[in-house]
Amino acid sequence: MAVIRFLDARGALLHQAEAMAGDNLLDVARLADVPLHWRCGQGTCGTCKVRVSGMAAPQRPSRKERNVLLRAGAIDAAQAAREEWQEAEPWRLACHLAVEEGPGWDVSCPDY
Ligand code: FES
Repeated sequence: MAVIRFLDARGALLHQAEAMAGDNLLDVARLADVPLHWRCGQGTCGTCKVRVSGMAAPQRPSRKERNVLLRAGAIDAAQAAREEWQEAEPWRLACHLAVEEGPGWDVSCPDY
């Protein structure tokens, strides 16, 4: 069980939810009524971009996810092309991210 803390752009707590390893982060947000914007749910629109901190082992986004994050203005071309993903608080697509086993994450929602 992991604790997911959803924060607004200023770092204020919006909601705290428990999640199981493997749960989709967008689903966790939707079930908790977190006002996270999303549209496609398939990793193509970039609307659900969030910053995630506290990942024990940051998962490198796929090329598709990096391209969508680039189009959404969350990362630059150099970040999109980089082989290593060492961001301390990486931008990710909530609809593409599975919760990992561990204590949990802080998830910043940039539009709030
Ligand atoms: S909802 Fe469209 S990329 Fe996640």
